[in-house]
Amino acid sequence: MSTTQVGIVGAGPAGLLLGHLLHLNGIDSVIVENRARDYVIDRVRAGVLEQGTVDLLMAMGVGERLQREGLRHDGLYISFGGERHHIALADLTGGKAITVYGQNEVVKDLIDARIATSRPLHFEAEHVSVGALDSSRPTIHFRQGGTDHEIRCDFIAGCDGFHGVCRQSIPDGALTNYDRLYPFGWLGILAGAPPSSAELVYTYHDRGFALFSMRSPTITRLYFQVPPDEPIDQWTDEAIWDEMLMRMTTRDGWKPQVGRIVQKSVTPMRSFVAAPMRYGRLFLAGDAAHIVPPTGAKGLNLAASDVLVLARALKAFYESGRSDWLDEYSAVCLRRVWKAQRFSWWMTTTLHRSPDETAFDHQRQIADLDYLTGSRAAMTSLAEQYVGLPMEISFESAGL
Ligand code: APR
Ligand code: PHB
Repeated sequence: MSTTQVGIVGAGPAGLLLGHLLHLNGIDSVIVENRARDYVIDRVRAGVLEQGTVDLLMAMGVGERLQREGLRHDGLYISFGGERHHIALADLTGGKAITVYGQNEVVKDLIDARIATSRPLHFEAEHVSVGALDSSRPTIHFRQGGTDHEIRCDFIAGCDGFHGVCRQSIPDGALTNYDRLYPFGWLGILAGAPPSSAELVYTYHDRGFALFSMRSPTITRLYFQVPPDEPIDQWTDEAIWDEMLMRMTTRDGWKPQVGRIVQKSVTPMRSFVAAPMRYGRLFLAGDAAHIVPPTGAKGLNLAASDVLVLARALKAFYESGRSDWLDEYSAVCLRRVWKAQRFSWWMTTTLHRSPDETAFDHQRQIADLDYLTGSRAAMTSLAEQYVGLPMEISFESAGL
């Protein structure tokens, strides 16, 4: 049996960021992750950081490689009817931008930072469970290397993603789940090809949505819409490129550069919120509490804003015994979460073709895109949400 102040379940962006924010405030934590370190680092995930997330990582002192290797984008393209339309994100938002830097790179940097602090981080923990959540000493149990462990905590942070154990440990009826499944998913590839555009291209095509992104000057990241349960083996590399080129090529001849596909997978799309993001002394953060479809590129960024709010509340509790910020945690996070949900839903439904759409829906989508790309007001609205609405609290209040 061991003790800690904050037990953190999950070493994704949410858990690792929280652990480091707590460290910077002199608060102890133990992070328990059920996967192996290499698995967590190699897993290909999202890649767009909002301005506020970049600022947060920099303020935390973990942004050195991000600043060197991250690709700052001052704009993006919306493509439809065979034409790309530029949205000048930075011009429209007073200089804010997004940075393309893989989630797995963020995770790698945060694991290195954690290890440098010598604070505990357990990988390959089996049979992870949480208990006594409504008591003042909630516990984490797990098995590692054949030994059972129990950690008694003041608080537990459930940062274990959508399929984790923390949310599922909350008694039935204590949470309200808001859930929406979409009738499509994304087939995504990583390809060894230099990006043929310096900025992202979101495409609405008669055959469905497609997205051009990248990871580095030599790696392109591309997606297109498929049915949600599409078997990936049904797609040869050649067929994938044919479909990408068909959807993305514009009338001026722009198209992605073809290269060797090094990774491919299909992801379903869903919007989900569990509220409140707390039960007793268990606080949910990141994907454990909410999922957005990837079209708005908000998942990782919401995880970052949640844990900033949680770190502020825990700091206030330990420094001055006040618990009002812990009590407000869920409400403060959910305001931002719901705005990001709305934005992600809008991007998704505007840019995808739905199997049950009517001819009216189709024309309305085209009008939506025509309005978006022709109105400075509409472009500004997209831009301020895409680069990220303001964090709900200041960095200073979280001890940065
Ligand atoms: N016990 C311990 N760890 C667990 C358990 C468990 N029972 N279940 C899951 N985990 C781990 C996962 O292996 C993963 O490393 O919790 C971590 C959760 O990380 P993420 O799923 O990345 O979630 P989060 O940290 O909230 O980050 C949100 O994830 O889905 C993406 O695009 C989304 O960028 C967003 C980000
Ligand atoms: C990515 O680069 O993986 C990416 C970019 C934008 C999105 C989703 C994913 O909306």
